[in-house]
Amino acid sequence: MVSKHRRVLVTGGSSGIGAALVDALLASGETVIATTRKPEQQVARTNLQWLALDLNDPDSVTELLDHPIWETPLDAVVNNAGYGLIAPIESAAMDAVRDQFEANFFATIAITQHAMAHFRTYQQGTLMVVTSIGGRMAFPYFGYYNATKHALEAVYEALWYECIGSGIRVRIIEPGFTQTQFATHGMQTSGTDDPIHTQGLQWLSNAMKSGTTATPPAVIGQVMKSALESTSDQLRFAAGKHAGTLLTARKILPDRWFSSLIAKAVMRGQKAG
Ligand SMILES: NC(=O)c1ccc[n+]([C@@H]2O[C@H](COP(=O)([O-])OP(=O)(O)OC[C@H]3O[C@@H](n4cnc5c(N)ncnc54)[C@H](OP(=O)(O)O)[C@@H]3O)[C@@H](O)[C@H]2O)c1
Repeated sequence: MVSKHRRVLVTGGSSGIGAALVDALLASGETVIATTRKPEQQVARTNLQWLALDLNDPDSVTELLDHPIWETPLDAVVNNAGYGLIAPIESAAMDAVRDQFEANFFATIAITQHAMAHFRTYQQGTLMVVTSIGGRMAFPYFGYYNATKHALEAVYEALWYECIGSGIRVRIIEPGFTQTQFATHGMQTSGTDDPIHTQGLQWLSNAMKSGTTATPPAVIGQVMKSALESTSDQLRFAAGKHAGTLLTARKILPDRWFSSLIAKAVMRGQKAG
């Protein structure tokens, strides 16, 4: 059975995966409120309202949560906005790590708590978060980014239990590598000039360039739209090429085998220790 979502808030709707979801929702006649740091640069479209949101600015998050949009029932809140940080664990600047957690985790949790209060009032609604396959495994130089996604996975898994019997649905979307602005405009770096990691970072860069083709964001947008419409109690949705395979391999392979596969793909098979 399919239920229609009529009014949906999507954070980070200006680009990539969020923009694909906005397109898919508008195409089926739904009303969308989307956020961006630059609402003045967005194109006006029917049934679409742009709001400002900078996840790294607590005042901006408060402004979104105080906005009159919450005075009318929302059917779904999609926490999609976020960015990546490439940084060796040992040489990343702590400010860069804190900024990464502020945006991807703390601001997202603030929106999640507010949306939960909203949905409890109406005893219905869907809360969705976009994590990553890197929310269930970790890759070299993406450790802090992956940590924010692991943290979101834990919180949304706990939330799923806490929503049993409430009429509120909880969804985690786990995309693999997707063709968006994520790796080009969005990505931050810290400590990448550490000479200890020159070679490793070069291997990573080569692996990213020669890796299998990334998935078009429209594919992820459709998975998200279906997950919003589904009335099942499924929590996690793998999305895009190889995401399901990698997540299954992570689940069934012993740690050592799985890590060797990743090391082979990304670090030229270097052995640890
Ligand atoms: N691309 C991938 O391979 C991949 C894989 C797995 C998971 N993901 C996840 O998918 C989500 C969307 O990323 P994407 O791939 O679509 O990247 P993208 O094309 O760079 O889009 C990111 C979106 O998030 C917003 N955003 C970024 N930093 C923000 C901040 N500090 N405050 C507020 N908004 C911010 C951007 O809005 P403005 O710049 O307009 O403010 C934009 O709309 C992210 O959570 C990412 O971690 C991506």
